[in-house]
Amino acid sequence: MKLVKTKQEVRDIVKEWRKQGLTVGFVPTMGYLHEGHASLIDASSKNNDRTVVSIFVNPMQFSPNEDLESYPRDIVHDSKVCEEHGADLIFNPEPEEMYNDMFCSYVDMDVLTKELCGLSRPIHFRGVCTVVSKLFNIVKPDNAYFGQKDAQQLAVIKRMVEDLDMDIKINGCPIVREADGLAKSSRNTYLSPEERQAALILSKTIAVGRELVKNGEKDAKKIVSQMIKNIETEPLARIDYVKIVDALTMQQIDNLDRPALCAMAVYIGKTRLIDNFEVV
Ligand code: PAJ
Repeated sequence: MKLVKTKQEVRDIVKEWRKQGLTVGFVPTMGYLHEGHASLIDASSKNNDRTVVSIFVNPMQFSPNEDLESYPRDIVHDSKVCEEHGADLIFNPEPEEMYNDMFCSYVDMDVLTKELCGLSRPIHFRGVCTVVSKLFNIVKPDNAYFGQKDAQQLAVIKRMVEDLDMDIKINGCPIVREADGLAKSSRNTYLSPEERQAALILSKTIAVGRELVKNGEKDAKKIVSQMIKNIETEPLARIDYVKIVDALTMQQIDNLDRPALCAMAVYIGKTRLIDNFEVV
Protein backbone atom coordinates (compact mmCIF):
# COMPACT_ATOMS: atom_id res chain seq x y z
CA MET A 1 0.00 0.00 0.00
CA LYS A 2 1.19 3.49 -0.87
CA LEU A 3 0.39 6.94 0.58
CA VAL A 4 0.61 9.93 -1.76
CA LYS A 5 0.03 13.66 -1.22
CA THR A 6 -0.48 14.93 -4.80
CA LYS A 7 -3.21 14.60 -7.43
CA GLN A 8 -0.61 13.83 -10.10
CA GLU A 9 0.65 10.79 -8.20
CA VAL A 10 -2.91 9.46 -7.86
CA ARG A 11 -3.56 10.01 -11.58
CA ASP A 12 -0.32 8.28 -12.61
CA ILE A 13 -0.96 5.24 -10.41
CA VAL A 14 -4.62 4.86 -11.45
CA LYS A 15 -3.65 5.27 -15.14
CA GLU A 16 -1.22 2.39 -14.75
CA TRP A 17 -3.95 0.21 -13.16
CA ARG A 18 -6.31 1.11 -16.00
CA LYS A 19 -3.72 0.03 -18.57
CA GLN A 20 -3.74 -3.36 -16.87
CA GLY A 21 -7.55 -3.48 -17.13
CA LEU A 22 -8.07 -3.33 -13.34
CA THR A 23 -11.26 -1.98 -11.71
CA VAL A 24 -10.98 0.80 -9.13
CA GLY A 25 -13.06 1.35 -5.98
CA PHE A 26 -12.91 4.58 -3.98
CA VAL A 27 -13.67 5.42 -0.34
CA PRO A 28 -13.63 9.16 0.48
CA THR A 29 -13.07 9.93 4.19
CA MET A 30 -11.93 12.68 6.55
CA GLY A 31 -9.75 10.22 8.45
CA TYR A 32 -9.62 9.15 12.10
CA LEU A 33 -10.84 5.85 10.74
CA HIS A 34 -13.05 3.46 12.72
CA GLU A 35 -14.94 0.27 11.88
CA GLY A 36 -17.57 2.26 9.96
CA HIS A 37 -14.93 3.50 7.51
CA ALA A 38 -13.28 0.06 7.53
CA SER A 39 -16.54 -1.56 6.40
CA LEU A 40 -16.51 0.69 3.31
CA ILE A 41 -12.89 -0.23 2.56
CA ASP A 42 -13.82 -3.92 2.98
CA ALA A 43 -16.73 -3.54 0.54
CA SER A 44 -14.50 -1.78 -1.98
CA SER A 45 -11.60 -4.22 -1.81
CA LYS A 46 -13.99 -7.15 -2.08
CA ASN A 47 -15.63 -5.81 -5.24
CA ASN A 48 -12.78 -4.05 -7.06
CA ASP A 49 -9.25 -4.99 -8.12
CA ARG A 50 -7.81 -1.85 -6.51
CA THR A 51 -9.04 0.45 -3.72
CA VAL A 52 -8.18 4.11 -3.15
CA VAL A 53 -8.98 5.78 0.20
CA SER A 54 -8.83 9.57 0.47
CA ILE A 55 -8.11 11.11 3.85
CA PHE A 56 -8.81 14.83 3.75
CA VAL A 57 -10.47 17.04 6.34
CA ASN A 58 -12.25 19.25 3.83
CA PRO A 59 -12.30 22.88 5.10
CA MET A 60 -15.04 23.81 2.60
CA GLN A 61 -17.73 21.74 4.33
CA PHE A 62 -17.19 23.30 7.79
CA SER A 63 -18.83 26.59 8.81
CA PRO A 64 -16.62 29.05 10.74
CA ASN A 65 -18.35 28.07 14.02
CA GLU A 66 -17.76 24.32 13.48
CA ASP A 67 -15.00 21.91 14.50
CA LEU A 68 -12.51 22.14 11.59
CA GLU A 69 -9.53 22.91 13.84
CA SER A 70 -10.34 20.33 16.50
CA TYR A 71 -11.43 17.56 14.09
CA PRO A 72 -9.40 14.49 15.18
CA ARG A 73 -6.48 13.39 12.99
CA ASP A 74 -4.18 10.33 13.15
CA ILE A 75 -2.60 9.38 9.84
CA VAL A 76 -0.42 6.62 11.35
CA HIS A 77 -3.44 4.79 12.75
CA ASP A 78 -5.42 5.48 9.55
CA SER A 79 -2.69 4.00 7.33
CA LYS A 80 -2.75 0.84 9.44
CA VAL A 81 -6.55 0.51 9.12
CA CYS A 82 -6.36 1.06 5.33
CA GLU A 83 -3.61 -1.54 4.95
CA GLU A 84 -5.40 -4.12 7.13
CA HIS A 85 -8.62 -3.75 5.14
CA GLY A 86 -7.05 -4.14 1.73
CA ALA A 87 -6.63 -0.57 0.44
CA ASP A 88 -3.94 -0.12 -2.22
CA LEU A 89 -3.53 3.64 -2.19
CA ILE A 90 -4.16 6.48 0.28
CA PHE A 91 -4.58 10.00 -1.07
CA ASN A 92 -3.81 12.40 1.79
CA PRO A 93 -3.52 15.90 0.29
CA GLU A 94 -2.82 19.17 2.09
CA PRO A 95 -5.58 21.80 1.72
CA GLU A 96 -3.40 23.77 -0.76
CA GLU A 97 -3.21 20.74 -3.05
CA MET A 98 -7.02 20.69 -3.26
CA TYR A 99 -7.75 24.43 -3.19
CA ASN A 100 -5.28 26.87 -4.73
CA ASP A 101 -5.47 30.64 -4.14
CA MET A 102 -7.60 31.21 -7.24
CA PHE A 103 -10.18 28.54 -6.40
CA CYS A 104 -13.73 29.74 -7.16
CA SER A 105 -15.73 26.88 -8.74
CA TYR A 106 -18.34 24.98 -6.76
CA VAL A 107 -20.81 22.13 -7.14
CA ASP A 108 -24.06 23.16 -5.51
CA MET A 109 -27.37 21.35 -5.15
CA ASP A 110 -30.93 22.50 -4.52
CA VAL A 111 -33.89 20.67 -2.87
CA LEU A 112 -32.17 17.71 -1.12
CA THR A 113 -29.62 19.93 0.62
CA LYS A 114 -32.20 22.40 1.97
CA GLU A 115 -33.64 19.94 4.52
CA LEU A 116 -32.35 18.04 7.61
CA CYS A 117 -28.63 18.78 8.17
CA GLY A 118 -28.74 21.44 5.42
CA LEU A 119 -30.88 23.68 7.65
CA SER A 120 -28.38 23.92 10.50
CA ARG A 121 -25.33 23.52 8.20
CA PRO A 122 -26.19 25.75 5.21
CA ILE A 123 -22.83 25.55 3.38
CA HIS A 124 -22.05 21.95 4.29
CA PHE A 125 -23.35 20.10 1.24
CA ARG A 126 -21.85 22.58 -1.22
CA GLY A 127 -18.50 21.74 0.35
CA VAL A 128 -19.21 18.01 0.23
CA CYS A 129 -20.41 18.04 -3.40
CA THR A 130 -17.47 20.16 -4.50
CA VAL A 131 -14.80 18.05 -2.80
CA VAL A 132 -16.36 14.72 -3.79
CA SER A 133 -16.60 15.91 -7.43
CA LYS A 134 -12.94 16.91 -7.32
CA LEU A 135 -11.95 13.59 -5.76
CA PHE A 136 -14.00 11.69 -8.37
CA ASN A 137 -12.21 13.64 -11.12
CA ILE A 138 -8.82 12.84 -9.61
CA VAL A 139 -9.39 9.13 -8.87
CA LYS A 140 -11.89 8.34 -11.67
CA PRO A 141 -13.19 5.22 -9.89
CA ASP A 142 -15.69 2.65 -11.19
CA ASN A 143 -17.30 2.37 -7.75
CA ALA A 144 -17.47 4.70 -4.75
CA TYR A 145 -18.59 3.71 -1.24
CA PHE A 146 -20.55 5.85 1.24
CA GLY A 147 -22.12 5.02 4.61
CA GLN A 148 -25.83 5.00 5.36
CA LYS A 149 -24.78 6.69 8.63
CA ASP A 150 -24.74 9.96 6.65
CA ALA A 151 -27.96 9.13 4.83
CA GLN A 152 -28.58 12.62 3.48
CA GLN A 153 -25.01 12.80 2.16
CA LEU A 154 -25.50 9.43 0.42
CA ALA A 155 -28.75 10.64 -1.20
CA VAL A 156 -27.08 13.91 -2.24
CA ILE A 157 -24.10 12.13 -3.83
CA LYS A 158 -26.41 9.72 -5.70
CA ARG A 159 -28.41 12.71 -6.99
CA MET A 160 -25.24 14.60 -8.00
CA VAL A 161 -23.85 11.64 -9.94
CA GLU A 162 -27.18 11.23 -11.74
CA ASP A 163 -27.69 14.95 -12.42
CA LEU A 164 -24.14 15.60 -13.64
CA ASP A 165 -23.78 12.32 -15.60
CA MET A 166 -20.80 11.09 -13.65
CA ASP A 167 -19.96 7.56 -14.73
CA ILE A 168 -19.49 6.17 -11.20
CA LYS A 169 -21.59 3.65 -9.31
CA ILE A 170 -22.45 4.86 -5.79
CA ASN A 171 -22.71 2.05 -3.24
CA GLY A 172 -24.40 2.63 0.13
CA CYS A 173 -23.18 0.57 3.11
CA PRO A 174 -25.02 -0.13 6.41
CA ILE A 175 -24.40 1.80 9.65
CA VAL A 176 -21.74 0.21 11.87
CA ARG A 177 -22.50 0.59 15.59
CA GLU A 178 -20.73 0.18 18.93
CA ALA A 179 -21.78 -2.89 20.93
CA ASP A 180 -24.25 -0.75 22.91
CA GLY A 181 -25.86 0.70 19.78
CA LEU A 182 -24.17 4.11 19.36
CA ALA A 183 -23.38 4.69 15.66
CA LYS A 184 -19.62 4.84 15.21
CA SER A 185 -18.37 8.34 14.44
CA SER A 186 -15.04 10.16 14.55
CA ARG A 187 -16.89 12.80 16.61
CA ASN A 188 -17.69 10.30 19.40
CA THR A 189 -14.17 11.07 20.71
CA TYR A 190 -15.48 14.51 21.81
CA LEU A 191 -17.85 12.91 24.35
CA SER A 192 -17.05 12.84 28.07
CA PRO A 193 -17.85 9.51 29.82
CA GLU A 194 -21.15 10.97 31.03
CA GLU A 195 -22.01 12.27 27.55
CA ARG A 196 -21.01 8.96 25.99
CA GLN A 197 -23.68 7.29 28.15
CA ALA A 198 -26.23 10.00 27.31
CA ALA A 199 -25.50 9.56 23.59
CA LEU A 200 -27.23 6.18 23.72
CA ILE A 201 -30.49 8.12 23.57
CA LEU A 202 -30.01 8.36 19.77
CA SER A 203 -29.94 4.62 19.03
CA LYS A 204 -32.57 3.95 21.71
CA THR A 205 -34.85 6.47 19.98
CA ILE A 206 -34.15 4.85 16.60
CA ALA A 207 -35.40 1.63 18.19
CA VAL A 208 -38.59 3.40 19.35
CA GLY A 209 -39.22 4.65 15.82
CA ARG A 210 -38.49 1.28 14.23
CA GLU A 211 -40.87 -0.45 16.61
CA LEU A 212 -43.72 1.96 15.77
CA VAL A 213 -43.13 1.38 12.04
CA LYS A 214 -42.95 -2.37 12.58
CA ASN A 215 -46.32 -2.24 14.35
CA GLY A 216 -47.86 -0.57 11.31
CA GLU A 217 -47.88 3.12 12.27
CA LYS A 218 -48.04 5.17 9.05
CA ASP A 219 -48.52 8.65 10.49
CA ALA A 220 -45.12 10.38 10.35
CA LYS A 221 -46.14 13.06 12.88
CA LYS A 222 -47.08 10.43 15.47
CA ILE A 223 -43.79 8.56 15.02
CA VAL A 224 -41.74 11.77 15.23
CA SER A 225 -43.58 13.00 18.34
CA GLN A 226 -42.99 9.71 20.16
CA MET A 227 -39.32 9.86 19.22
CA ILE A 228 -39.01 13.47 20.40
CA LYS A 229 -40.66 12.55 23.71
CA ASN A 230 -38.12 9.79 24.14
CA ILE A 231 -35.14 12.08 23.47
CA GLU A 232 -36.51 14.61 25.96
CA THR A 233 -36.06 12.06 28.76
CA GLU A 234 -32.29 12.61 28.44
CA PRO A 235 -31.24 15.87 30.18
CA LEU A 236 -27.93 16.17 28.25
CA ALA A 237 -29.66 15.92 24.86
CA ARG A 238 -30.79 18.91 22.78
CA ILE A 239 -32.69 18.16 19.58
CA ASP A 240 -31.61 19.77 16.30
CA TYR A 241 -34.19 17.82 14.28
CA VAL A 242 -36.17 14.58 14.12
CA LYS A 243 -37.86 14.16 10.75
CA ILE A 244 -39.31 11.68 8.33
CA VAL A 245 -38.56 12.52 4.70
CA ASP A 246 -38.96 11.02 1.24
CA ALA A 247 -35.90 8.81 0.66
CA LEU A 248 -35.10 10.39 -2.71
CA THR A 249 -36.01 14.06 -2.32
CA MET A 250 -35.34 14.52 1.42
CA GLN A 251 -38.64 16.49 1.65
CA GLN A 252 -40.82 15.97 4.70
CA ILE A 253 -43.76 13.58 4.31
CA ASP A 254 -46.89 13.03 6.40
CA ASN A 255 -47.54 9.42 5.51
CA LEU A 256 -45.27 6.41 5.24
CA ASP A 257 -46.59 5.55 1.79
CA ARG A 258 -43.21 5.44 -0.04
CA PRO A 259 -39.54 4.68 0.72
CA ALA A 260 -38.62 7.08 3.50
CA LEU A 261 -35.83 8.07 5.82
CA CYS A 262 -36.33 8.79 9.50
CA ALA A 263 -33.37 10.94 10.53
CA MET A 264 -32.27 12.87 13.58
CA ALA A 265 -29.52 15.21 14.73
CA VAL A 266 -29.10 15.67 18.47
CA TYR A 267 -26.58 17.67 20.47
CA ILE A 268 -25.09 15.82 23.42
CA GLY A 269 -23.42 18.67 25.26
CA LYS A 270 -21.56 20.51 22.48
CA THR A 271 -21.27 17.46 20.19
CA ARG A 272 -23.76 17.11 17.36
CA LEU A 273 -24.54 13.47 16.57
CA ILE A 274 -26.72 11.97 13.83
CA ASP A 275 -28.54 8.68 13.37
CA ASN A 276 -31.29 7.34 11.12
CA PHE A 277 -33.21 4.38 9.84
CA GLU A 278 -34.71 3.61 6.47
CA VAL A 279 -38.38 2.78 5.95
CA VAL A 280 -38.78 0.73 2.78
P1 PAJ B 1 -16.34 10.92 7.13
O1 PAJ B 1 -17.22 11.51 8.17
O2 PAJ B 1 -14.92 10.60 7.46
O3 PAJ B 1 -17.05 9.62 6.59
C1 PAJ B 1 -16.52 8.92 5.50
C2 PAJ B 1 -17.50 7.83 5.10
O4 PAJ B 1 -17.64 6.90 6.17
C3 PAJ B 1 -18.91 8.40 4.82
O5 PAJ B 1 -19.45 7.78 3.65
C4 PAJ B 1 -19.68 8.01 6.06
O6 PAJ B 1 -21.08 7.85 5.85
C5 PAJ B 1 -19.02 6.69 6.41
N1 PAJ B 1 -19.26 6.33 7.83
C6 PAJ B 1 -18.99 7.09 8.93
N2 PAJ B 1 -19.41 6.46 10.06
C7 PAJ B 1 -19.98 5.31 9.66
C8 PAJ B 1 -20.63 4.23 10.35
N3 PAJ B 1 -20.76 4.23 11.68
N4 PAJ B 1 -21.09 3.19 9.61
C9 PAJ B 1 -20.97 3.17 8.26
N5 PAJ B 1 -20.36 4.18 7.54
C10 PAJ B 1 -19.89 5.22 8.23
O7 PAJ B 1 -18.46 11.83 5.21
C11 PAJ B 1 -17.36 12.36 5.15
O8 PAJ B 1 -16.27 11.91 5.85
C12 PAJ B 1 -17.09 13.56 4.26
O9 PAJ B 1 -18.25 14.33 4.16
C13 PAJ B 1 -16.59 13.17 2.83
C14 PAJ B 1 -17.62 12.34 2.07
C15 PAJ B 1 -15.27 12.41 2.93
C16 PAJ B 1 -16.33 14.46 2.01
O10 PAJ B 1 -15.41 15.27 2.64
